[in-house]
Amino acid sequence: MLEYQEEYEENILFSGLKEQGLISPFSVERYSYEPKIRLGILASGNGSNFEHIIKSIKNKKLNAEITILIVNNPNCLAIRKAIEYDIPYEIINHRECNSRQEHDKLVMKKLDDLSVELVVMAGWMRIVGEELINKYENRLINIHPSLLPSFKGVDAIKQAMDNKVTITGCTVHYVQKEVDSGSIIIQAAVPVKDRDSKETLTKRVQDMEHIILPLAIGKVANKLRNRFMDNK
Ligand code: GAR
Repeated sequence: MLEYQEEYEENILFSGLKEQGLISPFSVERYSYEPKIRLGILASGNGSNFEHIIKSIKNKKLNAEITILIVNNPNCLAIRKAIEYDIPYEIINHRECNSRQEHDKLVMKKLDDLSVELVVMAGWMRIVGEELINKYENRLINIHPSLLPSFKGVDAIKQAMDNKVTITGCTVHYVQKEVDSGSIIIQAAVPVKDRDSKETLTKRVQDMEHIILPLAIGKVANKLRNRFMDNK
């Protein structure tokens, strides 16, 4: 425990987040499964979480391979990160699809073709249907900028500020049919300060997201691999 605690403090210091958050459950265990877990990343936004997954892989903190970035919006800035780090990407524009099912099917086909094992919604702003959720049961995770079950849905950070909470945060959870529900994998708490604007609070919440999302991916990947071995 002490060893982890020291590493935690070290992490927090290195990332300039001292005294700014609490992660639970916290573990920096380096999981020893092989081969690398095959990830599919779904994104709609700036791609900062996507970039931190890439960095965790490069720093050997995460034993994973990003097989594809799928975006639903051709203007999504995550595409620039994919180009910068030479990661394959695919635009599956929901506006060109006639229904949610059609869009989901195209996403599933791509993930299937690439034998993706774990799907990570890293700023994915679309609801997905039951078929995709069921197909990737226990293999589909999402990050949300609040301490769930508080402040589900859009603009979670604004919701937290409007409700004048003094602690908010972020959550990585398994995806299930009800939006922003599903078992929680890791959460980070972030204090709200009197002088916070939406921008300053968003920055601190996202700094914590960048730590917990790779941790959660490692944890779920390890679980998947152990499950596979149990079934052998
Ligand atoms: C993140 O803050 C993530 O929690 C949020 O979108 C942002 C994406 O940032 N996701 C949701 O609100 C999903 N309900 P990024 O594109 O820089 O990773």
